Amino acid sequence: MAQNALQVEAVVLAAGQGTRMRSKQHKVLHCLGGTPMLHHVLNRAEALGAGAIHVVIGHQAEAIKIATPRELDWVLQTEQLGTGHAVAQVMPHVQDASVVLVLFGDVPMVSQQLLADCVDAAGNDALALVTADFDDPTGLGRIVRDAAGNVLEIVEHKDANEYQLAIREINSGIMALPGALLRRLLKELMAQPPQNNQGEYYLTTLVEYAVRDGIAVRPIKAKRPQEVMGVNTRNQLAELERDLQRQRAEQLMADGVTVADPARLDVRGELTTGIDVFIDVNVVFEGTVSLGSNVRIGPGCVITDSVIGDDTHIFPNTVMEGAEIGIACNVGPFARLRPGTKLSNKVKIGNFVETKNAELGDNSKASHLTYLGDTTVGRDCNIGAGTVTCNYDGINKHRTDMGDGVFVGTNSTLVAPIKLGDNSFVAAGSTLTGDLADEDLGVGRGKQRNIKGWTRPDRRSK
Ligand code: UD1
Ligand code: CA
Repeated sequence: MAQNALQVEAVVLAAGQGTRMRSKQHKVLHCLGGTPMLHHVLNRAEALGAGAIHVVIGHQAEAIKIATPRELDWVLQTEQLGTGHAVAQVMPHVQDASVVLVLFGDVPMVSQQLLADCVDAAGNDALALVTADFDDPTGLGRIVRDAAGNVLEIVEHKDANEYQLAIREINSGIMALPGALLRRLLKELMAQPPQNNQGEYYLTTLVEYAVRDGIAVRPIKAKRPQEVMGVNTRNQLAELERDLQRQRAEQLMADGVTVADPARLDVRGELTTGIDVFIDVNVVFEGTVSLGSNVRIGPGCVITDSVIGDDTHIFPNTVMEGAEIGIACNVGPFARLRPGTKLSNKVKIGNFVETKNAELGDNSKASHLTYLGDTTVGRDCNIGAGTVTCNYDGINKHRTDMGDGVFVGTNSTLVAPIKLGDNSFVAAGSTLTGDLADEDLGVGRGKQRNIKGWTRPDRRSK
């Protein structure tokens, strides 16, 4: 409806220090679900179609900019004189005709719908604000209403009287109002020294002014208090993280994934799945991961930026990053797939096998205790236990290339660069330093000598 006609500009506040985190890192760069809090907020503003996004920064401004390579209007607030003062810094860049949506960098989990409702409620003539009922409103601004339920003002915890402290409806900090109105009210706010216990220019004071001027003030109450929860402490960060992970697990289940325990799954990034996927306990997904249908992920796996094809099973405690895995492969337990690993279909990677920049063709197997680095393995190959590609000479990396049907016997050392032809065979215990032609057997070990009648050393008395 009206929303399409409204031009939205977002103002994101992130200049404060966040001392209660006790961290050298700026508060808004602390992650939720693998993404910095600030980026969650920016994603919401972008999804709303905000024409401009103004971000107010102060403390650690450079670090925040570096961590956020996006097209944004960065505005410096050199002194942190309060949330009202912070928004005032942006006003020279804001258009009167826009609806201005104020977001806090430390209130990261607000839903898209709630923001859209807030913008709609503001429209061309009202001040809309997002509130919520909290069991424990300690530290937050309280929404003071009259007997009829109209909002009168917002009182900060530190300024509240006994009666006001008992109010459980809190201010989320999220507010929307027309640019021209915001400009006028902020001008009034900044015209006199602040009259409150913190000596700050409060954005919340604008509510009082609006009520006085007969401007409609429209509160929108969040149904889930968690979505407007602010993060001031690491305890609150952990609480929100669990809430977010629970939501992600619920979404996965709705998408056809069996999650062994929704409380023991962490998705720190984006996970897409087919159906009938099974995810066991204590699995962590990071970055962008996609799982085909019928994939099973065993307990304790850490899977980062990888693609896993249909019917593949990942056994317990496998760690992988930057891997592409085909259909019906078996990987692990205790496998480590590093970036550049590409497994075709029906490949088996067993326990204590490490791969890096390694491509294995259909039906090839490395079942135990092996390192394959900078290596191509053809189809139907068998790599025996203890095989090591010596890919590094201390300066440069070198390739190992195997054709199809190659058999590498147990405990072989392949000194790269080296090529093993189709159907070639490496005798167990070999150290090969030269290429092997198709069908040939390579034996690279000392010949066995047997010494007859050898006497074992005996224990000498001192
Ligand atoms: C603020 C609200 C409070 C609300 C709560 C919700 C005010 C006066 N109070 O309190 O009503 O219940 O959020 O979480 O608005 N910031 C700046 N520059 C400043 C001051 C703050 O950019 O000069 C930024 C902070 O970095 C932060 C946000 O504004 O992202 C909120 O500031 P904070 O000091 O955390 O306000 P609260 O005391 O939590
Ligand atoms: Ca806060």
